[in-house]
Amino acid sequence: MQRVYLDNNATTPVLPEVFEAMRPYLLEQYGNASSIHHHGQEARAAVERARDSVARLLGCSQSEIVFTSGGTEADNLAIFGSVSPGDHVITSVIEHHAVLHACDRLEELGGSVTRVPVDDLGRVNPDDVRRALRPATKLISIMMANNETGVLQPLEEIGRIAAEADVFFHVDGVQAAAKVNIDVNALGCDLLSISGHKVHAPKGVGALYVRKGTALRPQLYGGSHERSRRAGTENIPGIVALGKAAEIAFGGLRNGSVQKVAALRDRLEQTILNHTDAVGVNGAGAPRVPNTSNIYFDAIEGEALVVALDLKGLSVSGGAACSSGATEPSHVLTAMGLPPARARASVRLSLGKQNNAADIDYALALISETVARLRELSPVYNRKQAVSS
Ligand SMILES: Cc1ncc(COP(=O)(O)O)c(C=O)c1O
Repeated sequence: MQRVYLDNNATTPVLPEVFEAMRPYLLEQYGNASSIHHHGQEARAAVERARDSVARLLGCSQSEIVFTSGGTEADNLAIFGSVSPGDHVITSVIEHHAVLHACDRLEELGGSVTRVPVDDLGRVNPDDVRRALRPATKLISIMMANNETGVLQPLEEIGRIAAEADVFFHVDGVQAAAKVNIDVNALGCDLLSISGHKVHAPKGVGALYVRKGTALRPQLYGGSHERSRRAGTENIPGIVALGKAAEIAFGGLRNGSVQKVAALRDRLEQTILNHTDAVGVNGAGAPRVPNTSNIYFDAIEGEALVVALDLKGLSVSGGAACSSGATEPSHVLTAMGLPPARARASVRLSLGKQNNAADIDYALALISETVARLRELSPVYNRKQAVSS
């Protein structure tokens, strides 16, 4: 059976070039970057080359990059590293759980958190952020692109608000990296998280941008790795892979490769909208990353659609992958004001560099056939039809 993968916001395949770049660091060049001998220095040089590439992707200098084990650790380091008990944090209701649950923990530890709402397109209103400021506010943490809808946030304005108020500004850039340009200076952020496995590097590696001069308390105690900001022997193969993926992403944002993904996503979305009843795109009308489409198919359970498509060879996701299996409708779609039934009727299609036109044709045929079949079985849909005819 042919299989097509349209769940790249959950994770991406490692690109062959990325795998080739990391391979020697699993086999021959296995040194510890802290060792002063030849093997160690080879590893050190590889880490620093990777740091350069990641810095170039984010528009910062290489000393401002701290390698981590992934997006979750980068988000946690940004939050717990900059906030003390008693401080106040502003975030949004649509953040990833890596931020939301870290903020819940912060409250348990004596901090306070304001979670600003979003409008029906899934956008934070910067004025809400401004209004939430208090004398005790230490940090604003707002994501760049939402993992479920791909909707981009007005971060430059929020960055200006953070600068005026002299509070730290953290951006979860995990779902934006490699899809849109990130320039930490234009955003005005002090901290920005990215994750390797969302940008065609392996799982278990990520990075946090830390603006020069930002006092960050380490969250792991041990050696003085990463300029004492993150202890632990470096994951050299992962870091090398992230460096290579960042280099490819930097090129992809300039050589039309991202536009190709956008054209495929737009065709997928438009064809579904034009040929299927009772569907819509969540967050359409807001600026979005070019690879993501979150679509509701009224009168269908999104989870049932995900399972039925999987049986036919198409991998997509119903809401966030980490919460699939949960019966609660997505916190992101609910926050956008979707009624629970419509939120549950939504699926996320997310493309990657490896997808081609044939994948989209295959997905379109399967979605059309499966939606029609599920709706035939749906008493809700039949009743609707009966009423309107
Ligand atoms: C927006 C966002 N932030 C953070 C994370 C966590 O990243 P990681 O899987 O590398 O821990 C994810 C992963 O889904 C994400 O989408």
